[in-house]
Amino acid sequence: MVALALLALAGLAVANPVQVPLTPPPAAAAANPRPLVIWHGLGDTAHSEGMDAFADRVKELHPGIFVHSVIVPEGGSPGDERNAGWWGKAEELAQQGCDQIADIEELQDGFDAIGFSQGGLFLRYCAQYSDGPAMRNLITFGSPHFGIAALIPCPDPPTLSCRLAARAARSGIYTSWAQSHLVQAAYYRDPARLDEFLLANTFMRNMNGEGLLDDEDAGNGLGHLENMVAIAFTEDKTVFPGLSAHWATVDPEDTTVVVELGDQQLYTEDWIGLRALNETGHLILDWCPGEHMQIGGDGGCGDQMVEKWVGWKK
Ligand SMILES: *[C@@H]1O[C@H](CO)[C@@H](O)[C@H](O)[C@H]1NC(C)=O
Repeated sequence: MVALALLALAGLAVANPVQVPLTPPPAAAAANPRPLVIWHGLGDTAHSEGMDAFADRVKELHPGIFVHSVIVPEGGSPGDERNAGWWGKAEELAQQGCDQIADIEELQDGFDAIGFSQGGLFLRYCAQYSDGPAMRNLITFGSPHFGIAALIPCPDPPTLSCRLAARAARSGIYTSWAQSHLVQAAYYRDPARLDEFLLANTFMRNMNGEGLLDDEDAGNGLGHLENMVAIAFTEDKTVFPGLSAHWATVDPEDTTVVVELGDQQLYTEDWIGLRALNETGHLILDWCPGEHMQIGGDGGCGDQMVEKWVGWKK
C-alpha cells in the first residue's frame, strides 16, 4: 500500500512538475482564519467519532484553522464527560468550559463558536457571563434557547444515566435539588408553571433576562457578538418545542400554539440584546432540514453553515 501510494505520487510529480510543490503551500498563513471552539451535545463527548469528524471537516473547509473541542470535566474519561452532560449544576459545568476556553493561547484574540444542542446553551453562558477572550460568531444547532417544556427523550435503548435523570426529574423538576443536580432541569421551562420556574431556576432564566435580575445575574447579554446564528431543525422531535432553537415557546393555555421570538417580551423589550442584533442584521434565525442534529454529510447544511459563518479572516 505504501509503495503504491509513493509510486502514484511520483507519477503525478513527473507528469506535472510545475504544479506539484515539494512542500505543501502555507494555506494557513495565507488565509489566517479565526479559531473555532465547538461544544458537543447531551450524551456525546468532545472527541467522539462524530465530533472528531466534524472538526476534521471544518479543517478541510478552512485550512489552517485552529479548532478546540470543549472537554468537561477536563482530563475526565469519556464516561465522565457523558455523565457531566446529565448530572451537575449547569452553571458550574458551563463555567468549567468557559475557563478552559480562557486558558487557550490560540483563542486570546477572539474566536467563533459552534454549539450542538445543549452545548450551544453552555457557549451562550460563556458569551454572557465569561470575561475570557471575545466570542465573535456564535452558531448554535438545535439549542433550546428558551428552554424545553418536556424532557429530551432517552435514546433507544435508553442509557442508565438518561433513565435515572428522567425519574429524578419527574419527582420534582423545580426542587432546588433537581435545579442544582440535573442539567436538563436547568433549562426546563414549563410555560404552565412559570411562577415556579422563575422562583427556582437560575441558568435559563438569567440567560434570557427573565424576572428581576441583579447586575451579576444579568451578565453581558448577547449584543456584543458579531453574529448570533441560531439554527433550528425543520423536523425536530427531540427538543420540545423544536422552535426553542429560535427562542420560541409554547402558549401556556394551548401547547400546540407556538409563540415566536418576535412576540416575546424578551425580544420587544430587548432584555439580552437580541433585538439590537436583529436591527443591525446580526441575529440570524436559520434552518437545517431534518430531525435534531441531522447536519448532513459533505455539502450538507452543517457544511454550508461552517462555510458561511466560520473561518473568517482574523
Ligand atoms: C428581524 O428583522 C427582520 C428584518 O427587519 C424582521 O423581518 C424580523 O421579523 C425580525 N426578527 C424578529 C424576531 O422580530
